[in-house]
Amino acid sequence: MAILITGGAGFIGSHTCVEMLEAGKEIVVIDNYANSSPKACERVKAITGKDFPYIECDIRDEEKLNKVFASYKIDAVVHFAGLKAVGESCVKPVEYYDNNVGGTLTLLKAMKSAGVKTMIFSSSATVYGGENPVPFKEDMKIGGTTNPYGTTKLFIENILTDLCKADKDWSVSLLRYFNPIGAHESGMIGEAPNGTPNNLMPYIAQVAVGKLKQLSVYGNDYNTPDGTGVRDYIHVVDLAKGHVFACNRALSVKGCEIYNLGTGRGVSVLDLIKAFESANGIKIPYVVVPRRPGDIDVSYADVSKALNVLGWKTEKSAEDACRDSWNWQKNNPNGYDN
Ligand code: NAD
Ligand code: UD1
Repeated sequence: MAILITGGAGFIGSHTCVEMLEAGKEIVVIDNYANSSPKACERVKAITGKDFPYIECDIRDEEKLNKVFASYKIDAVVHFAGLKAVGESCVKPVEYYDNNVGGTLTLLKAMKSAGVKTMIFSSSATVYGGENPVPFKEDMKIGGTTNPYGTTKLFIENILTDLCKADKDWSVSLLRYFNPIGAHESGMIGEAPNGTPNNLMPYIAQVAVGKLKQLSVYGNDYNTPDGTGVRDYIHVVDLAKGHVFACNRALSVKGCEIYNLGTGRGVSVLDLIKAFESANGIKIPYVVVPRRPGDIDVSYADVSKALNVLGWKTEKSAEDACRDSWNWQKNNPNGYDN
């Protein structure tokens, strides 16, 4: 009885492996290492003192997937595998649809052949688009994504929803993540972006370690208290724990359920810079530049459903995440490469 974790060597996947193992679950990881390193799996073993198989496998390779399902008794799939760079998805839309949507379809076929009908899927708050009022609630209208990456999440949500309508034996949990940041408190696993980071926290961390000169703050003329963009930053360990709750629920209830995984609190860009500075005693030089196209002013979650139904809520603060991100970054300035 094991949980198959696709993309388990990645940022959120590796932290979820730790929490699954600590919750006493057996896991099997597959990853093609397109954006990660198998070293992350070794570090998960070192953190937890527990063993598990990790297999190089692309989710578009149906034959290999069938072999994995034949080799292990899988009860549920936690599906992280996907490409996630917003800018790159605008340049390579076909690759993104092929990898994320095509890959998910292939995975679903392999699951069906193996009789495995429980999936926890990594969706994103990006599916709420730019028109909904905050806080975002699970029953709001979705759509209006502004880039192929976001649209792959929307399409996959639709595919999984249709699947549950067509076959009542399926159990799917669509988890809409807000903005994951932080790292495991051991400093052994964390976010290791390729090249210059696009997201705020890894950018701040690379400024702190001296790899980048200063942060560009994308606009201070938003309709927010200090004019900078407001987001719901969730510690990756809290997020990872949310998957254990969602997985337990999906293994006991059929149908498609949607959950926001966030803190329910909005934090501005300037707030996050201050939190990083006060948690770590390091000054983050920044300059205000024009808005980044496609950004919205405010995004944060209504987290009542996850609390009421899953019994899950976040426990860590933005300062905790800043401290842990820095601990990871300073110990691993080149990610898993050193
Ligand atoms: P990540 O890039 O660190 O992890 C994704 C993993 O999937 C990587 O290890 C990568 O090598 C693997 N992968 C990609 N394509 C694959 C394929 N075809 N076959 C097998 N493995 C493949 O990203 P992450 O931040 O850990 O995100 C995990 C999931 O959560 C992704 O689906 C992402 O879109 C989603 N998500 C992330 C965020 C975020 O801010 N990090 C927000 C919302 C949703
Ligand atoms: C972005 C993606 C979103 C994706 C999410 C997680 C866009 C438009 N959205 O969300 O689809 O699900 O990442 O991968 O890319 N900021 C700066 N300077 C920086 C970087 C960011 O000021 O160098 C600001 C942004 O304007 C925003 C906030 O920081 O207000 C957070 O940005 P980011 O970390 O990129 O996340 P999102 O834009 O919320």
